[in-house]
Amino acid sequence: MAKLLVTYYSRSGNTEKMAEIIAKAARGVTGLDVALRPVGKVTPDDQLGFDGIVMGSPVYYGTMAADIKKLLDDSVVHHGKLEGKVGGAFASSGGPAGGNETTVLDIVKALLIHGMVVKGDPQGDHYGPTAVGAPDERSREECARFGRRTAELVKRLFG
Ligand SMILES: Cc1cc2nc3c(=O)[nH]c(=O)nc-3n(C[C@H](O)[C@H](O)[C@H](O)COP(=O)(O)O)c2cc1C
Repeated sequence: MAKLLVTYYSRSGNTEKMAEIIAKAARGVTGLDVALRPVGKVTPDDQLGFDGIVMGSPVYYGTMAADIKKLLDDSVVHHGKLEGKVGGAFASSGGPAGGNETTVLDIVKALLIHGMVVKGDPQGDHYGPTAVGAPDERSREECARFGRRTAELVKRLFG
């Protein structure tokens, strides 16, 4: 069965809520195994066992938190081996123009360097779901949409 990992760093729970909504929506797509794990519980080796990996971070000074960057940097041991897997990113900022899109794109850039397949969204949050603080109704819908769409892509490519 195809496997999707939803991983995140969260200090005050906002990004974690987004991750939970994404994982729940992904689990609504049948025929897929979805794991939800804080980034501290994911090793570079673990990443090899998934067909899709999405990462969420709070915005720290306009970019991802160090814990997410650490997993990405540590995954250099498997450089080239994540190629073709599905990727995606999401972020929560403190303010409406606080850097959530730059954070999503910074994560996406790293996933693209790994050779991962990242799907944009022509209707919803284009680069990946964002929230300002805790996800409001709009963000919740975007997270659910992202979870569904990512799961469907993983299933289409690896199911
Ligand atoms: C060290 C640090 C840096 C931050 N930098 C920014 C920032 O540049 N822009 C912003 O909008 N919010 C910033 N914030 C606020 C967090 O991104 C925001 O509160 C987020 O919702 C926290 O997510 P979490 O609950 O998952 O930890 C910062 C918070 C911390 C602790």
